[in-house]
Amino acid sequence: MKKLIIANLKMNTKPSEFKDYAMTLATKAKLSKNSIVVCPPFTHLVAAREFLGGSKVAYGAQNISDEEKGSFTGEISASMIKDLGATYVILGHSDRRNKFKENDKLINKKIKTALANGLKVILCVGESLQVRESKQASAFVRKQIDDDLKGIYENELEGVVIAYEPIWAIGTGKNATNKDISKMVGVIRKEIETQFSAKAAQKAIVIYGGSITINNYKKIISNEDINGVLIGGASLDVENFSVIVRENY
Ligand code: PGA
Repeated sequence: MKKLIIANLKMNTKPSEFKDYAMTLATKAKLSKNSIVVCPPFTHLVAAREFLGGSKVAYGAQNISDEEKGSFTGEISASMIKDLGATYVILGHSDRRNKFKENDKLINKKIKTALANGLKVILCVGESLQVRESKQASAFVRKQIDDDLKGIYENELEGVVIAYEPIWAIGTGKNATNKDISKMVGVIRKEIETQFSAKAAQKAIVIYGGSITINNYKKIISNEDINGVLIGGASLDVENFSVIVRENY
């Protein structure tokens, strides 16, 4: 089964180091049957265009402003990354939600801005350990989906990938079990059905992220309930990431 495999490099690597990363990945991914996306820091997007442009590997950013342009010092707009050939943007990552206090209202506005500019959105949702332990995980994720996708038209959902990333599993080495993943993916699809339609739920692209490594990736990516994965730490080593993207699932 063809999978969508996304790398989130977070705030790692320098632009000068990214050339080698991109060239290696572009070469090694040539024969891959999967869809591959790399999301490096903004500063690497020019190099991404140069070394990934025209290859099998698409690229995107890890954030955008909710504003189109103007006096927003230090911000980067959707049209700017689009102009550099980016096709995706990660929005609602737990780093942004927790460390930069982004709320669902802002994330919803960013999603609309991204879609209006022809970008595909990788929307991250997921509960904290505390929420999970209080048995509120499903309700919490359902509310994130509702709030983040408010006012989005059904036909626009084609441009949205939903990444279930339980916060307790991100960068902790404690990845969710396939049972946990399938259960939450079911919750997410059901919510899409409630908010949009059964057809939308069936077509929705739902992926998992959290502590996927070169040792555990096969078992997780082969889960037929998910359309792919979002990989942080393990995507930094281009050799390992290339092995993951070349596999048939
Ligand atoms: P991780 O990060 O693979 O390092 O857990 C995933 C993510 O934050 O997207």
